[in-house]
Amino acid sequence: MLPGGALHPNEPARLRLADLPTPVERVTRLLSRRGIDPDRVPLFVKRDDRTGLGVSGNKVRKLEYLVADAVHGTVNGVGGADTLVTMGGVQSNHCRATAAVAARLGLKSRLVLRGADPREQEPPMAWGGNLLLDELFGGEVSFHDAKEYNGDREAMLMRVLGGVKQAGGVPYFFGTGGSVSLGSWGYVRCVYELAAQLDTAGWSGPVDLFCCVGSCGTHAGCVVGRALAGLADWRVVGVPVAGTAKTMSDGTRELVDETSAEFELGLTETDTPVEVLDGFVGPGYSIPTPQGDAAVRDAAATEGLVLDPTYTGKTMAGVLHAMSTGFVRDGAAVVFLHSGGAFGLMGSV
Ligand SMILES: Cc1ncc(COP(=O)(O)O)c(C=O)c1O
Repeated sequence: MLPGGALHPNEPARLRLADLPTPVERVTRLLSRRGIDPDRVPLFVKRDDRTGLGVSGNKVRKLEYLVADAVHGTVNGVGGADTLVTMGGVQSNHCRATAAVAARLGLKSRLVLRGADPREQEPPMAWGGNLLLDELFGGEVSFHDAKEYNGDREAMLMRVLGGVKQAGGVPYFFGTGGSVSLGSWGYVRCVYELAAQLDTAGWSGPVDLFCCVGSCGTHAGCVVGRALAGLADWRVVGVPVAGTAKTMSDGTRELVDETSAEFELGLTETDTPVEVLDGFVGPGYSIPTPQGDAAVRDAAATEGLVLDPTYTGKTMAGVLHAMSTGFVRDGAAVVFLHSGGAFGLMGSV
């Protein structure tokens, strides 16, 4: 860390939005339930489900950097935005976090959602979970079918941005999950935070850090953070919950390289190994799996820890599997990055 608290001379400025540091907790009963000796390999949970701001999980760390640029032009030199524009699924945690941050700062949010309006389905479905929170936080939402959302995306976004401008607003756009190079800094900072916490807790040995991979920003930030912080005996393992192991690891690689290039970090591929643990997506994104659901149930019953079936349950299933099959290194502490997502849980496991 540099004087003034910067991690690196090229770290962009951020707005403080999250409640940091988030706690790190050791869990043992969950391991015992799975027949894993908790004294042999310690398991810590980095509680990023507790970043604050409308139970925002991992997204708020990325938003600290993105919103600083939107408002103050910290990177693009423009600033002055009054409307945060982003996109995601109908129940997107990222869109909800963006709406919460906008409300907190007196900005507007415009959310471009993939999927149908639940009220217009036959039979109509509940306007609940993150969608309800989007509305409560004052977010303006629009629904787009897969053809439009995945088709000419640029034209769709131009229409949305044009609409904001026509109404007199100043939009600032960032893509799915806030997973762009600027957003990656959120998890660069998280790695430094975690390393300091483990040090204070008396752990100076190797660490196998596991995180969920959806739009790749969290994983990429952790990979860059490990390299910048000089944590040569750490491993960062992403557990994909969408796509294939190849598309997800390529996505993380691309974002790591972009972050290094854009902020002139000088990192090579050797400095930034990208590792994924395959086999926990199941039939697809947001489709629950028996292993993921069992992890959700066991974590809740043994530790009072709330996971979700789309992201953290599948990731924890991967961690428990890794710990019981020798994937985890002997002598390493395992850290599970809890990235939030509790609203995906309701009525589904
Ligand atoms: C709760 C939760 N965990 C993990 C992820 C994955 O993070 P990322 O999109 O940065 O890969 C997401 C986002 O999609 C999420 O909402």
